[in-house]
Amino acid sequence: MANMHSDALVFFGATGDLAYKKIFPALQAMVKRGTLNVPVIGVAKAGWGLEQLKARAKDSLEKHGGLDEAAWEKLSSLLRYVDGDYADPATFAELRKQLGDARAPAHYLAIPPSMFETVVKQLGACHCSSGGRMIVEKPFGHDLASAQALNKILLSEFPESAIFRIDHYLAKEPVHNMVSFRFSNTFLEPLWNRTYIESVQITMAEDFGIQGRGAFYDQTGAIRDVIQNHMFQVLCNLAMEPPSDHDSEAIRNEKVKVLKSITTIRPEDVIRGQFKGYLQEPGVKAGSDVETFAALRLEIKSWRWSGVPFYIRAGKELPVTCLEVMARLRKPPATNFNPDTGPQNYVRFRISPEMAVAMSVSVTSPKDASKRSAVEMVARRHPKPDAMEAYERVLTDAMAGDPTLFARQDYVEEAWRIVDPILAKEDPVEVYEPGTWGPEDEKLTPPGGWDDPAAKESEEAGVVIE
Ligand code: BG6
Repeated sequence: MANMHSDALVFFGATGDLAYKKIFPALQAMVKRGTLNVPVIGVAKAGWGLEQLKARAKDSLEKHGGLDEAAWEKLSSLLRYVDGDYADPATFAELRKQLGDARAPAHYLAIPPSMFETVVKQLGACHCSSGGRMIVEKPFGHDLASAQALNKILLSEFPESAIFRIDHYLAKEPVHNMVSFRFSNTFLEPLWNRTYIESVQITMAEDFGIQGRGAFYDQTGAIRDVIQNHMFQVLCNLAMEPPSDHDSEAIRNEKVKVLKSITTIRPEDVIRGQFKGYLQEPGVKAGSDVETFAALRLEIKSWRWSGVPFYIRAGKELPVTCLEVMARLRKPPATNFNPDTGPQNYVRFRISPEMAVAMSVSVTSPKDASKRSAVEMVARRHPKPDAMEAYERVLTDAMAGDPTLFARQDYVEEAWRIVDPILAKEDPVEVYEPGTWGPEDEKLTPPGGWDDPAAKESEEAGVVIE
């Protein structure tokens, strides 16, 4: 059963925002690629019929990526719809009917976590869970205790091997590329440790706000929304040891080891900010103290990384939209021969919006031979036109039964353990102006300062390998 392809896809929350923006475009892409050829059953409580769902799906495709007539026709023929309350057994009786002969359906919960328990129990009661898979969206819980409780609920109806916890960052090609780049290049790996790396910083910046998601965001904040999940996945790829094999468990084991080596973050190791204007957003509580920006420092107490500070910052309404990693190397020693060693070397991974790996080297300054200046060597890859979008990738893999790109129970719980003490929000948020880099705190600033990813990409590169 573990590797059997799902013979139906059921998605709860079919009339919601996620379905509209991400799921329908992913389904159309799967049809086009030939990886989706089973019934797709949307479930929601909207008082709708199948024709309304189809109209919504068509509209979604037109607005998000474009409608492909042939693929749409096929997708439309696969679509089914069940309307009803998630607490009502009749909804699930209808679902069982729609599933027909399907014995290995994949159930995708694109709904708020508060409804998970009801749906999971109902799936068990209507015999739709046995042989099936469970795909769940983040946020997976809102702290360690709630994640543990949620895991207990899911595990009451599905074995761990049938649970697929989505973190769409895992499905981004540049996030994988960090791992293959690290373990395929002899020159890098000997330097990639506490002896040569001085500090590592990860910046996830978005130049937009909360885009009408006030009610969700105000329960969440930057630490829960992107740091505990997306940023920790990036961190694990940067810090993990080479897996013993390429199977899913060997890779997931190494990631969990990284998290287990991270000391729980103390409140003094985090600074939280809120962009000016957040309180006026619809859905945000009056006087809300929720952070739209956070910067933190952590340490991985492993043989490889002990003593190297890792800094993570993420926020909304920052000057640019990008995700970038900057690892600064220690400076070479100053000697009588070479008193000015010049700028520090670094390795930079640009994950989005474009994919690049860059390294800076110090060269003799063309203006003054006694001085050194930095030249950056950049390798850029333009996305392939037919590259899979993250949601297509995760749905394809979950339906094929490949868990590599999904967060395992122990991973999720370790990630919450690390941030749990800073969720209490002991210090109030600091307000920052939209379009700035958020509040700063010297204690939480990397040695040499935060890098400016916007400046890097606009600089003239020394050598560009495209
Ligand atoms: C989501 C967060 O998980 O990731 C959003 O809820 C965030 O707040 C988004 O904007 C970023 O994803 P991407 O793929 O656009 O970088």
